[in-house]
Amino acid sequence: MTKIPSPSIIALDGPAASGKSTLGQKLADSLGYLFFDTGIMYRAITWIALQHDLDLRDETVMTDLAQNAHIDIRPPSKNDGRPCDVIIEEKDATWDMRSGDVDANVSVVSSYADVRKALSGQQRRIGLRGNIVMVGRDIGTVVLPEAHLKIYLDASAEERAKRRYNEIIARGEQASYDEILKKVIERDRIDSTRAVAPLRPAEDAIIIDSDKMDADQVFERVMGLCR
Ligand code: CDP
Repeated sequence: MTKIPSPSIIALDGPAASGKSTLGQKLADSLGYLFFDTGIMYRAITWIALQHDLDLRDETVMTDLAQNAHIDIRPPSKNDGRPCDVIIEEKDATWDMRSGDVDANVSVVSSYADVRKALSGQQRRIGLRGNIVMVGRDIGTVVLPEAHLKIYLDASAEERAKRRYNEIIARGEQASYDEILKKVIERDRIDSTRAVAPLRPAEDAIIIDSDKMDADQVFERVMGLCR
């Protein structure tokens, strides 16, 4: 029997906390592909700017950071649920990059056209090598429109806030569900109304509503599509 090759470029988009990273990582592991979470890049430059008290409203400053920041991704050094280590300026920024401060500012930073140009150029270069699962907001629409399989993973804001809340509690940190829900809704609003590369499904994307599905069910559905 001839083996049908799996799609080599898989684009996985969707709103905040819809389960893209969990699904993307599992897909990449199963297929032996590289997993690339592009949100890390936007979070990293936002985190650097906050660390150095830079003006996040200044597009020129943020573009300069996007063009020059040195972000290092390494295999996970701790078994605390991290998919990888993110090292910036010699510091382990893996979880700090996911803090409330970064959540509250990252969507503004990622709305800047030149910031996006700098980061998505790098993403495209890496993605075109193939054998990759790339996760973000604009992968199927802008970064890799030629992707062989495009998935848009959705869920209600309430369900996504619940998942993010559980993630934070599982790490032993404090969280307020209501605050998380508010922030998720606000981030969706900015991400989907920005002028450049707004969050939306590509015309040829398969939309999966994961509200009533657990992570394994979503994974099985997408593996079925890969086959
Ligand atoms: O993990 P979560 O879904 O909360 O967010 P993320 O994927 O880490 O992305 C953080 C933010 O970066 C998003 O809210 C977007 O503003 C921005 N982003 C983007 O604009 N384009 C991408 N390809 C990836 C992330």
